[in-house]
Amino acid sequence: MNNPTALITGASRGLGRALAAGLAREGFDLIIDARDRAALDAAAGALRAAGHTVTAIPGDVTDPSHRAALIAAASGLLDLLVNNAGTLGASPLPALADYPVAELRAAFEANVIAPVALTQLALPLLRASGGAVLNITSDAAVEAYAGWGGYGAAKAALEQASNVLAAEELAVRVWWADPGDLRTDMHQAAFPGEDISDRPSPASVVPAFVRLVTERLPSGRYRASHLLPVTP
Ligand SMILES: NC(=O)c1ccc[n+]([C@@H]2O[C@H](COP(=O)([O-])OP(=O)(O)OC[C@H]3O[C@@H](n4cnc5c(N)ncnc54)[C@H](OP(=O)(O)O)[C@@H]3O)[C@@H](O)[C@H]2O)c1
Repeated sequence: MNNPTALITGASRGLGRALAAGLAREGFDLIIDARDRAALDAAAGALRAAGHTVTAIPGDVTDPSHRAALIAAASGLLDLLVNNAGTLGASPLPALADYPVAELRAAFEANVIAPVALTQLALPLLRASGGAVLNITSDAAVEAYAGWGGYGAAKAALEQASNVLAAEELAVRVWWADPGDLRTDMHQAAFPGEDISDRPSPASVVPAFVRLVTERLPSGRYRASHLLPVTP
């Protein structure tokens, strides 16, 4: 039996890197990407040093040829697609009244169009394996935080695309999940100059996502905090 294969976008740092390590520990072989080749190679090297099988493909998820290369790397066998790569958009976060339209468009391209397009390519393999799609979203998709209109609107669109996909693809699990605030580069960009050391580490929410995958929970929207044991 081959190991199952997971394709995780944006796995050179932050939540994607932590998820890659967690899923590898569960027995997944990995296909990972990020734009910065050196950072991606460092992440892949650490995973390989821990004994895991990793294919690392540098590139931008908004690039159709890169998306095709990611799917080609699966060689016809894919069990899980994690659309994790994303962008905050403009930083410091502007009000919608002042949001540069080019940056708004770029946020939608990275946070909605790219994951939907990659999912389109992955679906034939996921239908064949009875696999799953995990789209990483945010509470900004459902809450009206001032300044978060660009990012939040894009994440809301990703959530509804996930919702419809779940209704259409009954052989595939579709999860869209809010990880909660995490101590990452993206979070720091949202709060420039602020001390974010009190935010949880990305590794802290990995058990929540591992639960989704290993228990094959029903398609739907999840919050990582609701999938974790309650801490006193
Ligand atoms: N951190 C939080 O508090 C928080 C809360 C809610 C939701 N989220 C979501 O969690 C996910 C991960 O965020 P994070 O906080 O871990 O961010 P991060 O630390 O900035 O990491 C983002 C990862 O994605 C890669 N990436 C970004 N744009 C890409 C692109 N166009 N193509 C390929 N790779 C790309 C980055 O590498 P390169 O820059 O080298 O490409 C990096 O590996 C995102 O979807 C984010 O919206 C985060």
